[in-house]
Amino acid sequence: MAKFHNLKVKDLYKDTDDCSVIEFDVPEDLKETFKFKQGQYLTLRTTINDEVIRRSYSLCSSPFDNEWKVAVKQISEGKFSTFVNQNLQKGDDLQVMKPMGRFGTPISETPKNYIVFTAGSGITPILSMMKAHLEKEPESTFKLFYLNRTVKSIIFKEEIEQLRNQYFGRLEVCYFLTKEFRDIDLFNGRFTKEKLETIFDKLVDVSELNECFLCGPEEMIFMVKEELIKAGMPSENIHFELFVTGLSKEVNPKNNPVTNKKTEGVAVTIIDGGKEFHFDMTNDYGNVLDAALGAGADLPFACKGGVCSTCKCRVVEGAVEMKVNYALDENDLAQQFVLSCQSVPTTKKIILNFDV
Ligand code: FES
Repeated sequence: MAKFHNLKVKDLYKDTDDCSVIEFDVPEDLKETFKFKQGQYLTLRTTINDEVIRRSYSLCSSPFDNEWKVAVKQISEGKFSTFVNQNLQKGDDLQVMKPMGRFGTPISETPKNYIVFTAGSGITPILSMMKAHLEKEPESTFKLFYLNRTVKSIIFKEEIEQLRNQYFGRLEVCYFLTKEFRDIDLFNGRFTKEKLETIFDKLVDVSELNECFLCGPEEMIFMVKEELIKAGMPSENIHFELFVTGLSKEVNPKNNPVTNKKTEGVAVTIIDGGKEFHFDMTNDYGNVLDAALGAGADLPFACKGGVCSTCKCRVVEGAVEMKVNYALDENDLAQQFVLSCQSVPTTKKIILNFDV
């Protein structure tokens, strides 16, 4: 069940001109449900002009601070982000799902050296991770490479600087800007292969790094990952989360050949909350999640773009193919996990279990 809880907006403030931070008031009886790990996200739901809209936002607070904060950057034509930045008020209620997501690594018993590449609002889960790891791992270090347009648009600049002072010598920060000129050429403009080669050659000893976190657009993530692997970092130590805007335009299912294998009239069984739900899926729907929602099921989802993994379930019988998958790794796939928002049945009967 896509269980949402009503949470009050305890505080609401602008971190930059177009980015609002929402702090939620989590009542005592929900504190256990809302326990989270650094790197996880919340799915928010509200009704805007008679339309029910939900979006996922990473928690930017530390799990050890008893605070639940997300940052919402206004994106052009973004209904939810415009609502938050222009209409939402302190004291309002929003519907919120419990924290989810697997971005990040557990707190380590031994010191680790972390490196981060991120852009814009991709800083949100990273801020949570930096606060948590720096506090709980007294000798761990972070190197943060953070891309923005201008100094004024750097989200959480003040908090990052505070962390740099608080954990003196353990957090190094390099800001990259695309719309403001700096003296050192390396820091002007986006990350490129050449810049990354220079960084791994002159600024960072990759052999001393333990984990890497990447958060931003797809091309940035895959380029940095490739360069890090080339520089000697094992791929299993590179963790990423995709942050995209205008998702529905970027992941157009019609472009993917998997739809050719689609079967008409599939008998679908959904197991959710210990109960079974049956329906016949027709070709009117492009994925199992939409078909199930259309048939009246109340299932969890957020991005509908194969990114957040909120709609994850396990294939118990039959087979599906995914149009895109930015969220599940090989291990998940080997265990028959799929993203229902991207799944197209390829057998006449499928059983999907959401209780996993
Ligand atoms: S709803 Fe986000 S991956 Fe399916």
